[in-house]
Amino acid sequence: MDFLNKPSNTYPTIQVVRDGQEVPFSRYTNNEVIDDRYHFNQVVDPKKLGEVFSQERSSIRIFHAQRNIEKVAGWCRKFEAIFCCPVQANIYLSPPESRGFGIHFDRHDVFVLQLEGAKNWKIYDSPIPFPLHGEQEPPQEFVNRVGNAKCIYEGDLNKGDLLYVPKGYIHEVSSGSLPSIHITFGVRQLNGYDSIRKLVKSSHGNMSMRKSLPISAYQQGAFEEYKRGLIRIVAETLDREMDRMSTSFMSEERAVGVDQIKQFYET
Ligand SMILES: [Fe+2]
Repeated sequence: MDFLNKPSNTYPTIQVVRDGQEVPFSRYTNNEVIDDRYHFNQVVDPKKLGEVFSQERSSIRIFHAQRNIEKVAGWCRKFEAIFCCPVQANIYLSPPESRGFGIHFDRHDVFVLQLEGAKNWKIYDSPIPFPLHGEQEPPQEFVNRVGNAKCIYEGDLNKGDLLYVPKGYIHEVSSGSLPSIHITFGVRQLNGYDSIRKLVKSSHGNMSMRKSLPISAYQQGAFEEYKRGLIRIVAETLDREMDRMSTSFMSEERAVGVDQIKQFYET
């Protein structure tokens, strides 16, 4: 809670939402300085933030809390060591009788831990199968899906309760008579699509990928040869990128990295 009093907090690390709509950041940030180049006007004013929270039944979200709160970062690192993938955390503070985010689904698995008070969760059937990052379901399809969905779980999370919400499952959350604080851990497990995205990105520097298909590939019947060459490059690049992905979240590797930095100061 003390974190919210820090003079260094900025939007969008701190966000405010009410009834599914984001409250404009100008309502709770210092907007005296008119200079967007350096974002002077996105520094959170704790007094304004407190007023918006208490008087307007708005919820506060601390986005990517692991970047700012050491204890939360430690929890995320523990999750990462288990799941071998990036894990990020958001903290939500809600006054009584409020509804922050509207009905929605997430594109990653989520573990919810109730830290204070209580919150009501409703989870619906008709999940979106394995939604991808950046993939947006057309709004009308989402509305239709929600309209036909049945609630498969409803319950209050109380202090210390943990809930697992698989990705793609539509859910909505509200607070009752008690104020609430909960933290969500977003487990961003990698999939085949992520591997291909890595492959495409790392192909940018490969001249064989940048060159146009040679005319000879069509005119002199050399297309099969060109295709086999390209498949070999793709396979090698994908193999290398997937090896990199598989090791980048192993905690042992991180410990070695810190030791390397320490050596600079110890010699
Ligand atoms: Fe969610």
